[in-house]
Formats: sequence, C-alpha cells, structure tokens
Amino acid sequence: MARQSQQLELVERPTKGIVPGKTFRQRTVAAPTAADLRDGQLLLECLYVSFDPAMRGWLDDRRSYLPPVQIGEVMRAMTICRVLASRSAKARPGDIVTTATMGIREVGIMPEAQVERPTLPALPGVRVTDLLGVFGMTALTAFFGMTRIGQPQPGETVVVSAAAGATGSVAAQIAKIRGARVVATAGSDEKCRWLREELGMDVALNYKDPDFKEKFKAATPKFIDVYFDNVGGEQLDLALGRANMFARFVMCGAISQYNAGTQSGPSRNFNTIISQRIKMQGFIVFDYAKDYRSALTQIAQWLGEGKLKRKETILKGGIAASEEAFRQLFQGGNMGKLMVEVKNPDETARL
Ligand SMILES: NC(=O)c1ccc[n+]([C@@H]2O[C@H](COP(=O)([O-])OP(=O)(O)OC[C@H]3O[C@@H](n4cnc5c(N)ncnc54)[C@H](OP(=O)(O)O)[C@@H]3O)[C@@H](O)[C@H]2O)c1
Repeated sequence: MARQSQQLELVERPTKGIVPGKTFRQRTVAAPTAADLRDGQLLLECLYVSFDPAMRGWLDDRRSYLPPVQIGEVMRAMTICRVLASRSAKARPGDIVTTATMGIREVGIMPEAQVERPTLPALPGVRVTDLLGVFGMTALTAFFGMTRIGQPQPGETVVVSAAAGATGSVAAQIAKIRGARVVATAGSDEKCRWLREELGMDVALNYKDPDFKEKFKAATPKFIDVYFDNVGGEQLDLALGRANMFARFVMCGAISQYNAGTQSGPSRNFNTIISQRIKMQGFIVFDYAKDYRSALTQIAQWLGEGKLKRKETILKGGIAASEEAFRQLFQGGNMGKLMVEVKNPDETARL
C-alpha cells in the first residue's frame, strides 16, 4: 500500500492563543516517493519537530522577520529529518539533516538549498536531538544575545527570564561561565530548583510567587547590569526599575505578550531607560548566521568541559502531539528544549 503522510495545516488565524481543534487541522495525504524527485531534491522523513514561541507570531498576518504562514499551508517549523532518497550531492539516504522549511509533516520533498547536513562534535553522549537543542537555534540565540549584546563582565549582575527554557537555560549558563552573578526567573519551584542545584545559578525566583517583586528587588541589591529578556511585559518593567547605569537589555523575546491580543510594553519604569542610560537591543539569531560555526565550536567545548548542561522535553505521539506541545510552550510545561518526536531514529541514523 502507498505510504501516507500526516501534516498540520493552518486553518484559522488565532486572535489570542492557539485554539485546539480550530487553529490547525491534521490531514492525511499520500506521501511523495523517490519517483517524484527531481535533480537537486531530497525525500525526507521527519524525526523531530522543534516547538518555538516564535511560531505563534508566524500565524499573524503582519510584517515581521519572516512572512506569515498562509491559511491552508503546512505549519512552518524547524525539523530533524532522515533522508529517504536523494538526487542531491548534499546528503545520502540514511543521513540526518535539518530544515527550517519542510514544516510539520511526516514526509516531504525539499530542495537541497533548504536542507542542512550538520556535523556534530565527537563528544560522548551527543545525540540526534542536540541538533535542535544544545547545537540548535535556541542555543545560538542564547550565545549571540549574551556574548554580543549582553557582554557580561565578571562580578556583574545578570538576570535571565524564562531561564529554565531552551534559550534562557543556555543564556544563564553562559553568563555564569563569563563570571557574572546570575539571577534566574522561571514559572515553577521545580524549575527554580533545577536552575539553582544543577545549573548553579546564584538565585532562582518563581515569578508566580505572590512576593516575587520583593524577592526580585532583594536579589538585585547592586542593580542589574544585563537583562536577558525572554518574556517582556511585567518582568521587563520590573527589570527596568532595577537597572543599573548603562545596563544592557538583550531583547530576545516577549512570550508573555504573544497570546495577549493587544500587546503592552513596559509602562511604570519606561523612563528608566533615559535616567539610567540603558541600552536595549532587539535581535534575531539569523543576524549572526555567518558566525554560527564558531559559536557551535565554543558551545561544544563548554559541553565537553561540563560547563554547559542541556535538557530536553520530548513529547511522543507524532504530529498529533503538536497542539499539546503548543499548550506546554505557553503554559510552561517544558524544561529546556521542547520538541515532538515524530519517528524515533534507529541506530542506523548517521550523524
Ligand atoms: N530573537 C531570536 O532570534 C529568538 C530566537 C529564539 C527564541 N527567541 C525567544 O526566546 C524566548 C524563549 O524561547 P524558547 O524557544 O527558548 O522557549 P522556552 O523558553 O523553552 O519555552 C517557553 C517558556 O516561556 C515561559 N512562559 C510562557 N508564558 C509565559 C508568560 N506569560 N510569562 C513568563 N514566562 C512565560 C514558560 O516557562 P515558565 O514556566 O518559566 O513560565 C515556557 O516554558 C521566546 O520569547 C522566544 O520568542 C528569540
């Protein structure tokens, strides 16, 4: 029987959060085969799908750094795939590749220009999922945001929000490696324990605690030199109120606002930007694409030396687990990098 392929398609743009059963539909289509390949193309099967807060923004029909996903299109996502058949010199059948454009589908044909054939460092314990995790886009985001924009100096105070997530956990550890005193914030006591006990953060605060504001103030007695912002909203306002003179605010993301409908920025402490001469810089990781290779070499070195630890939350259940993955992302279900396993790679997978 001909192989079938599940895919997740956008049906309706959400006005706030993604609505289960409404925003997307899962559809079964006939899977393409090797006979459909043209020169320069690869037939891929998906192993892992990355779930990223930015995917919520791709559903809005407005100007951004990427065009919106159109109604009826397969949802865009970064994926780890295995090559089933190839008419490209880039990869052979059985190879593991990554692509940012195949989207959430089980089987697809991709042009070679949109497929990366990554090499992973020869370190003990390196696994396929590291391509989305510690050697993936979120780790690179943490690396460039912290080292190029934040530039923490030894002894400075760095605050990282959503610090138990994929980007935040790496950003916070890089600040520690650079000798800073790091205050991490996250949404559960379990996450805070992990940040303190396993990642060695100086302070970890649960932003859902009723006395969070007081604790945040107490944790920043010398004020904040670098704020790595993953959440925006109230925590950003709070950090502005505690900013040191010439603080650097790394504007990485604002997940607290993505489902808000109407977005709100910092309000009460906005003028601190002027009085404390704060530098706020937004960035998109792609800005640093030419330096990815050297960043990955540095990340591999830290991983090998045990200075950097990684964590993944992997949901099973294939494409059907996508809605649960979105729910976890926006309700804090994940620790470290969130992904869905579409197909478990067997031991023949070549890295
Ligand atoms: N600029 C770039 O190029 C770039 C690239 C990648 C990611 N980003 C941004 O980096 C941030 C983190 O992304 P990620 O992929 O690493 O995701 P992540 O941190 O692994 O997962 C998202 C986390 O955000 C927290 N969160 C959700 N809603 C929140 C709210 N209302 N207030 C505070 N925290 C909330 C949750 O943790 P808690 O349990 O702690 O609430 C959740 O686990 C996002 O803002 C994303 O857009 C930017």
